[in-house]
Amino acid sequence: MSIRTIVVGCGAVAQRLYRKPLARLAKQRVLEVVGLVDPAADHAREMATSFAGARHFTSLEEACKQARPQLTLILTPPALHCAQTLTAFEHGSHVLCEKPMANSTAECQRMNEAAASAQRVLAIGMIRRFFPAFAKLRTLVQGGALGRLQSFEYREGHKFEWAVTTPAAFKPRSQGGAGVLFDIGTHALDFLQSVFGSMTAATYADDAAGGIEATVAMGLRAQDCQGEMHLSWDVPQVNELRVVGSSAEAVLRVDRFDQLAIGRPGAFVPQVIDESFPVDLHQDAARRIVPLSYPDAVLCQLVQVLRAIELGEKPAVDGQGGAACIALLEQALSVAAPLPEPWLASREQAAAARLHWSNR
Ligand SMILES: NC(=O)c1ccc[n+]([C@@H]2O[C@H](COP(=O)([O-])OP(=O)(O)OC[C@H]3O[C@@H](n4cnc5c(N)ncnc54)[C@H](O)[C@@H]3O)[C@@H](O)[C@H]2O)c1
Repeated sequence: MSIRTIVVGCGAVAQRLYRKPLARLAKQRVLEVVGLVDPAADHAREMATSFAGARHFTSLEEACKQARPQLTLILTPPALHCAQTLTAFEHGSHVLCEKPMANSTAECQRMNEAAASAQRVLAIGMIRRFFPAFAKLRTLVQGGALGRLQSFEYREGHKFEWAVTTPAAFKPRSQGGAGVLFDIGTHALDFLQSVFGSMTAATYADDAAGGIEATVAMGLRAQDCQGEMHLSWDVPQVNELRVVGSSAEAVLRVDRFDQLAIGRPGAFVPQVIDESFPVDLHQDAARRIVPLSYPDAVLCQLVQVLRAIELGEKPAVDGQGGAACIALLEQALSVAAPLPEPWLASREQAAAARLHWSNR
């Protein structure tokens, strides 16, 4: 029977990443999109062009009462994730919540307690878990292909060009905004912790003065190695994850689905990328794909949540995994310092440091 599904938040991520895989699953009658929840009627109307039978609601409470969803997709700005997840559980729905899970560990805890008491699935949307090159790297590192782990370096940066439909992300953190740390940082740190285990931030610096940060640098410690992470919405970076071990190095292109090489500087060998994920709800997962596009990766993520609901399987990132990522972000903020900006004159550098939020 089709799983009654509602989409909460019909902005950029709904329209650009979720629409196509949802339409495919609806066509296969695996799920039915019965409601589109968004106070912006034009955003809901845009999604409705692909889901003719879905009703438009401006309130999640009303949608839960009238559309009676079994699965709620929370695709709204992060400051709304906790309250909307709690509402969905109160009405007996399972939840897939986009990253970041929430803006604080306290909110994550409330979401996990609500999932446990409602006995419902809480999955967190971490699309990169379904990038086959990422999955392959994790398998290789954990299988010892690089020897004893020594260090890693994660760099991702480009001009911000995601076509958000609201300015929610750009408000100061105290008003619910989420800069590059909670945006790309959740993807990066979730993946790094899945490879290297629980980590702590030894150092963290950002360039947020009155608003949210656009560039961050973090020094990280894991049990077996240490590393660095550099992220920017502003400054182009090399966009790769490099892991150095005692016998080899691995280099992953973070903006590609299938680019991973292993070797030594000057002698890297591209790896065959064949990690696949189920796209049906059968126990033996007979149909699988190697996702090579964002909609394919979202399809695999949605199917995994449906398999969690129907077959009791564990989603790639559940509420505990989502909370572990937010805990690391929160710990990094507790050691925050102003990011050095050496391109400024020295008196401007001093003024920028005085404006930094950690000095207020
Ligand atoms: N997985 C990824 O690669 C990826 C990419 C982009 C965004 N995201 C995440 O998706 C979420 C949404 O991002 P976006 O880029 O679509 O933002 P957006 O601002 O474009 O869209 C947010 C939508 O939520 C709607 N909204 C606001 N208040 C609401 C409410 N009370 N109830 C229902 N809808 C409401 C807005 O009208 C808008 O349509 C964020 O958590 C973001 O981090 C994930």
